[in-house]
Amino acid sequence: MEDFPVLEMKHISKSFPGVVANDDISLQLKKGEVHALLGENGAGKTTLMNILFGIYHADRGEVFINNSKVSIASPSHALKHGIGMVQQHFTLVPSFTVAENVILGLKDFGFVIKTKTVESKINELSEAYGLPVNPRARVWTLSVGERQRIEILKLLYTGASIIILDEPTAVLTPQESDTLFKAIRKLVSEGSSVIFISHKLDEVLSISDRITVLRGGKVVGTVERENIDRRGLIRMMVGRDVLLDQEKPVVETGRVILKIENLNVKNDKDLMSVRNLSLEVRSGEILGIAGVAGNGQRELAEAIYGLRKKVSGRIELDGHELKQGNVAERIRAGLSFIPQDRKTVATCPNLSVMSNLFMKNSICELVHCSPWKLDGRRMHSKADELIDEFSISTPSAKTEVRYLSGGNLQKVVLARELSAEPKVIIAEHPTRGLDIGAMEFVYKSLLLQKKRGAAILLLAGELYEIFRLSDRVAVIYEGQIMGYTPPDPSYIEEIGFMMAGTRQEDH
Ligand SMILES: Nc1ncnc2c1ncn2[C@@H]1O[C@H](COP(=O)(O)OP(=O)(O)O)[C@@H](O)[C@H]1O
Ligand SMILES: [Mg+2]
Repeated sequence: MEDFPVLEMKHISKSFPGVVANDDISLQLKKGEVHALLGENGAGKTTLMNILFGIYHADRGEVFINNSKVSIASPSHALKHGIGMVQQHFTLVPSFTVAENVILGLKDFGFVIKTKTVESKINELSEAYGLPVNPRARVWTLSVGERQRIEILKLLYTGASIIILDEPTAVLTPQESDTLFKAIRKLVSEGSSVIFISHKLDEVLSISDRITVLRGGKVVGTVERENIDRRGLIRMMVGRDVLLDQEKPVVETGRVILKIENLNVKNDKDLMSVRNLSLEVRSGEILGIAGVAGNGQRELAEAIYGLRKKVSGRIELDGHELKQGNVAERIRAGLSFIPQDRKTVATCPNLSVMSNLFMKNSICELVHCSPWKLDGRRMHSKADELIDEFSISTPSAKTEVRYLSGGNLQKVVLARELSAEPKVIIAEHPTRGLDIGAMEFVYKSLLLQKKRGAAILLLAGELYEIFRLSDRVAVIYEGQIMGYTPPDPSYIEEIGFMMAGTRQEDH
């Protein structure tokens, strides 16, 4: 790595209505380095890179490439300057083949390009960087991991030497991430430079040469990898120490509370997405379900809660079978749900904090009033109590929840779902999009419920979270449980195999 800046962004600012997404950000990228942009959701990472790639225009600030000032008006402009970006959401045409998609991404394509030539060049690149794809496959038939490889190959084909990867590992299994990391190392060893965006600390620590931390649209600092550790990075991200690595409480597990037998559930496309799935969760136990998103997790959670009809199978709560589609019965039986969609499924944005807290009659029972005859004074004092207990930061109980931050909104959901002391809790991505402070709060709350004796089914995308909370880990793939492991990072490889579809007994 040389000390030569191939790219410099100076004093970049960008506002959207009501939010300063980038506030006077300066960033230098050296030739041959992996430079991580680390920050929580909403820190401004994607906005900054969209400016560099010509998707957004900065309100202020300048960009230099090889020490000369450039103005990047569009992505094709950026490509001409050798800057390529793999966006968080891919831009491939599903009905085209891999080679056809690569041709689409070329700066000037005309009839001179022969598909055969493109195919053989893709094969060469694919081999050179260890990113296997079949150039003739139609994109719709490929997995997310394969699609990402095509996006990268597309950039390599155009000769990009500054490569921006926006949260590339969010959709990958651990093995696919390894493959990606190898390709990144090869790229930088040949003199390309990579900007690697992530909010995952361990990844950033393992791949980067330098790390720039963003918080609230501002640069907190840029550090050399060798001068920082996990703890130091967390402090930079949130501005203080946090307790994420606390011990789990030891709880003796009791009888089976949630029992699922041979469950089959269809998704919105009418395809079977939970297939013959059976599992059990005991009192005082957290069962973590690991898997790449889209493998039936959502349908499983919704079927248990009664929001989605099962095709067949049996769901039992503490020995009683739950009937088809009856959510009210489930709530009465002691089932709580923390859905991944907190803005639409879990809360009503235009209702107050109090109304959202009292949306389920289980809490009405807590204040001893019937849902038909509400006692305003009692509800108010109970709401204030919950706001206090769950440290919900809100101007008052009457504030509409759409004015709350993501973390505080999730605390409203937790207050409602957990205060009635449920027997079973389904938690679906309970910390997605939250800052580390709120994340810590969610962890603490769930562990308290476990200690109280609740049976908890945790569906999460981050293995870190699964290990942090669970007593057992199950891996789901295409709606089936592939196997179980203890909640220990030394099983990551085995979990990765199962996430990719290999059954436990097969390897
Ligand atoms: N197109 C947009 N319109 C309005 N607000 C936006 C837009 N894009 C991003 N923002 C806001 O800018 C802030 C930074 O977002 P983003 O750059 O996506 O963060 P990150 O990638 O670090 O998660 C957030 O508050 C986000 O809501
Ligand atoms: Mg982003």
